Amino acid sequence: MHTTVGIVGGGPAGLLLARLLHRVGVDCVVLESMTRAHVERRQRAGMLEQGTVEALRAAGAAHRLDVEGLVHHGIELRFDRTRHHIDFPALTGGRTVTVYAQTEIVKDLIALQLAHGPRLLFEARALAVERPDSGAPVVRFLREGREETLVCEWAVGCDGSHGIARDAFPAAAVRTYTHDYPYSWLGVLADVPPSCDELVYARHERGFALHSMRSPKVSRLYLQVPNGTKAEDWPDDRVWDELDARFAVDGDWTLRRGPITAKSVTPMRSQVHEPMRHGRLLLAGDAAHIVPPTGAKGLNLAVSDVRILAAGFAELHATGSARILDQYSELSLQRVWQATRFSYDMTRMLHAQPDGDAFDHRMQLARLRRITASRHAAAELAANYTGLPLPL
Ligand code: APR
Ligand code: PHB
Repeated sequence: MHTTVGIVGGGPAGLLLARLLHRVGVDCVVLESMTRAHVERRQRAGMLEQGTVEALRAAGAAHRLDVEGLVHHGIELRFDRTRHHIDFPALTGGRTVTVYAQTEIVKDLIALQLAHGPRLLFEARALAVERPDSGAPVVRFLREGREETLVCEWAVGCDGSHGIARDAFPAAAVRTYTHDYPYSWLGVLADVPPSCDELVYARHERGFALHSMRSPKVSRLYLQVPNGTKAEDWPDDRVWDELDARFAVDGDWTLRRGPITAKSVTPMRSQVHEPMRHGRLLLAGDAAHIVPPTGAKGLNLAVSDVRILAAGFAELHATGSARILDQYSELSLQRVWQATRFSYDMTRMLHAQPDGDAFDHRMQLARLRRITASRHAAAELAANYTGLPLPL
């Protein structure tokens, strides 16, 4: 099999890249190791920066998002039993964010790709990307028990944090930066309307809690838990009681309870692999970097990588110039490190330190109080949360 751009991985990064390339007439093939049903069922985050929404519109993949997406004008920070609204449009010159689940984006992109191309192969597991230094990298993959090859002009690894594309970088050319956090998130999905219109980021001595949503009928809630926690150790009543304790305020507030339909524990890690390009192999999304979910940046970073890549391939196709592709790693990494910093700061500001350090606790409160007291401090949070500009 031959193509111009061979894409390993059919998550949001790979699928959106394929869509954007198809729109500018660049041929590509997506190899996805799992089944369609599996990819469409995976529960992930769902808070989209305005630039992410614009990219999905540019890809012709926003019809349902424009109808069902919930536009949010801010978030709530909750600490000391008090609620504080952070008004994004007022602080950023009109910017908003949109709640629309990543799984729904994936479903929309898959439906478009299967109907209109380019080629998307499920249960096609890439084994290795070979000869990235040559003009014709090759992806070896396994389909229906047989090994096949995809010969490309360029290969893009969109194969997530456990992918194989990264392995084709020579060890001496790569540097990996990692930070593990001493806590995890227990996430639940509940068939109950959200308890308020906004996302609530709550800092409490018992630990962090987040109120989010998937639709007007489905709530998404998270609790900070110790590393190694098992979801089975958290029966539904315990989850609701703990959420109640952490969201408690002086004044009116009721957390609506309902049937919990999914429960899982996610560890928290920041990781960046540099560079994001070797020869004719490029990495995008979780394959190159992961962030803790506190700043809602994972999906948005995957999309900004893909926007830069798509601009690079469009330029190459139209003019023969690889100017943007040659700068891809530096351009993407500027945004990656800013999002890594923001996610780290949000995480550290809102989670209880397991060793109960009293000084740390005071620092967290001082940071939160500064954000709620100073327009400048709040504007800095709002600018990062709604998304920094693309460096193009
Ligand atoms: N061959 C083919 N496909 C593979 C292989 C392989 N060897 N290894 C992994 N994949 C597929 C996975 O099955 C998955 O569908 O690559 C895809 C990677 O998708 P994601 O993990 O969703 O990563 P990405 O597209 O970069 O999206 C980033 O996902 O994890 C969240 O928080 C993150 O929201 C962010 C988003
Ligand atoms: C989610 O809705 O899953 C979500 C929202 C915001 C975050 C993290 C997760 O910061």
